[in-house]
Amino acid sequence: MIQRTKVTVVGAGNVGATCADVLATREVCNEVVLLDIKDGFAEGKALDIWETSPVNSYDTRTVGSTNDYSKTAGSDVVVITSGLPRKPGMSRDDLIATNAGIVKSVTEQILPHSPEAIIVIVSNPLDVMTYQAWKTAGLPDHRVVGMAGVLDTARYRAFLAEALNVSPKDIQAVLMGGHGDTMVPLPRYTTVSGIPVTEMIDADALEAIVQRTKKGGGEIVQLLGTSAWYAPGAAAAQMVEAIVKDQKRIFPCCARLTGQYGLSDLYLGVPVKLGAKGVEDIIELELNDDEMALLHESAKAVKEVADVLDGMGV
Ligand code: NAI
Ligand code: 2OP
Repeated sequence: MIQRTKVTVVGAGNVGATCADVLATREVCNEVVLLDIKDGFAEGKALDIWETSPVNSYDTRTVGSTNDYSKTAGSDVVVITSGLPRKPGMSRDDLIATNAGIVKSVTEQILPHSPEAIIVIVSNPLDVMTYQAWKTAGLPDHRVVGMAGVLDTARYRAFLAEALNVSPKDIQAVLMGGHGDTMVPLPRYTTVSGIPVTEMIDADALEAIVQRTKKGGGEIVQLLGTSAWYAPGAAAAQMVEAIVKDQKRIFPCCARLTGQYGLSDLYLGVPVKLGAKGVEDIIELELNDDEMALLHESAKAVKEVADVLDGMGV
């Protein structure tokens, strides 16, 4: 039997609409459903995207829905981007109370219609919103995953490509930890077409890029007055593609740790294998003492927010 693939993106705002657009334009799946709570908003965005199909020459159907979850039925992957974005002066953690309620309610409404779906969380604060979705869904760990590392490494790779005057395609990198200022870019695991990056850039310039990456989200918030969407939307779409096409891609994703890196009961950014089952494997790198200390510091920061969330009883 020919299998049709369907992806729902909840939240038709900046990130959700961009993600839907990339999914459609790249023909990642046969149908994209864009759902939002605002009356007519998702329908409008979906129609506008669909009207690009003759120009951009693709046939993925894009459909909008104002909070009607029956239209999402049978989705293979659901991306949750609904929630408030950051404004200048706000940290991702400031969003916790509002966004936790939204992520919970969306997760509860999605699952009865798409009981087999893999859930990809984008809403911030990312690590604890992924944890919230996992708690609400009651699904096995591998079916709930968060998007941050693909975006954060994309920023790191873009900055490096600019500094080295090389193609961003040739920069490979790993980054771990929470989606925030404690994230841990790993220069030791960064290469330019297999050449260790440390052989191509001096230590101070590399450190400046690491620091810029950690604050990459804030840099955009300062410029735009709201958070980024092109790179986040494209990053979420790349994860969806890995799942829908069972590509077994190795990406840094927010996954539930059960002892890896000496950490348990925590959603945190680590390298994973992403395929049809969602998180099919968590890859354990041989971190040195400094890298491990930074990862544990980041884990501590995420755990503190997760504890706040648990205390709220959302
Ligand atoms: P936005 O404000 O443009 O869009 C959010 C949309 O969610 C709005 O259209 C709103 O109507 C909708 N929404 C709110 N409650 C809803 C509900 N209960 N059901 C359905 N839809 C609902 O915001 P933007 O820029 O798209 O950001 C979305 C989220 O993604 C924010 O929390 C932001 O911080 C986060 N984000 C995460 C990134 C990451 O790397 N994980 C990167 C960029 C943004
Ligand atoms: C970003 O990193 C704010 O999480 C958002 O752009």
